[in-house]
Amino acid sequence: MAQTSNPSPRPFSYPQPGAALHCDGVSLESLARRFDTPLYVYSAGQILARLRLFQQALAGRDHLVCYAVKANSALAILKLLAQNGAGFDIVSGGELQRVLAAAPDAVSRVVFSGVGKTAAEIDLALKTGILQFNVESEAELKLLAARARKFKIRARFALRVNPDVFADTHPYISTGLREHKFGIDIRLARAIYKEAANDRWLEAHGISVHIGSQIRSAVPFGAAIERVSKLVQQLSRKGIALQSIDAGGGLGIDYHAGVFDAAAKVEEYAAALEHALGDFKGRLLIEPGRFLVAQAGVLLARVLYVKRNGKKTFVITDAAMNDLIRPALYQAWHEIVPVRTRIGKGAGKPRIVDVVGPVCESGDFFARDRKLAPVEPGDLVALLDAGAYGMAQSSNYNTRPRAAEVLVEGNKARLIRRRESMEDLLSPEVL
Ligand code: LLP
Repeated sequence: MAQTSNPSPRPFSYPQPGAALHCDGVSLESLARRFDTPLYVYSAGQILARLRLFQQALAGRDHLVCYAVKANSALAILKLLAQNGAGFDIVSGGELQRVLAAAPDAVSRVVFSGVGKTAAEIDLALKTGILQFNVESEAELKLLAARARKFKIRARFALRVNPDVFADTHPYISTGLREHKFGIDIRLARAIYKEAANDRWLEAHGISVHIGSQIRSAVPFGAAIERVSKLVQQLSRKGIALQSIDAGGGLGIDYHAGVFDAAAKVEEYAAALEHALGDFKGRLLIEPGRFLVAQAGVLLARVLYVKRNGKKTFVITDAAMNDLIRPALYQAWHEIVPVRTRIGKGAGKPRIVDVVGPVCESGDFFARDRKLAPVEPGDLVALLDAGAYGMAQSSNYNTRPRAAEVLVEGNKARLIRRRESMEDLLSPEVL
């Protein structure tokens, strides 16, 4: 089991030199034999350890950790988190259906974010009784009020404000500036809350903010909450008392390092929020996704071929960009390690290689010019930190069935999603 005090950020290790890489107590070689590759493998222990870090760091105040389902929406993972007190941040009716399937009792701990909620999605969320709608535009608030009136169900809402705070991350996953499509300009929020107070089907329950993802510094989170806290005080002076502040998700991990003190990172983050909340006495919600699941997971792949083209050496694996698109989409770095390192004589020297998949695009790579211990066809490699936005962003591009997923609990492993079959892929189509 991953210990929170363990400086290694990952639950993956070699029990001794020359042994196969393990996830907690389970050998990845044995998992490849049982379930084949490409295969996602997650550690339940690590996911829970990370959840506890947030719960402990915020223990001094009323809080709720709403796991961002989009990061990894496997039902078994949702169930695990719900059983340990988590709520959920969802962004679609589909994600709500997942929560209902995995942990129906947790629906009262769901917040619903997203810039394009449809009437059907709003209806489902109203009827199932979610905690709060994080509303991203005036037009959406109007629609929410109309649907609430129709069903005679009062809608608890929070305005998702755009605080105009810069956070250093990849431009595709930065959301807190006025030029982004997300949220409502914080300068307009006060008037919208006042207007909404006249509608008996709307309950101004909270306020929310989310400035982006993979943000490594706690400073921008503090800056955003400071602006939000100020607005909450102004509203309270006008008689609008909000019960919760939702600080969003976005806390980043270190994709490069072998040493990363997750506990210290969470404490720093919690302290920045605490400081910015001032004397706000209500409930704090947070929506972490990546921080909970990224480092709990690997994508396990088998080397199919090793070939040279000109000066370059290519390691071609059976996993591809359809399984893990982050390197192609965000130039993201994922550590790649052989599952069994050769030791002693004949171990060979590390080589500079490109690790690529079989998809017919030059963008189908996991690593370029990367120093990798020598691998041969048939060897297994693990792509680390793939538990978040890996399987969740996978596709069937090139008519490739999606990978299977396995959850490791201590010394045991179980299949939580079977590999897709060709029947699965072809069945929606009509000739
Ligand atoms: N809350 C909201 C409203 C969000 O939009 C997101 C992520 C989160 C919470 C969770 O953020 P996290 O704690 O995971 O950073 N596909 C990209 C990441 C996209 C993030 C989108 N929103 C990637 O692979 O890096």
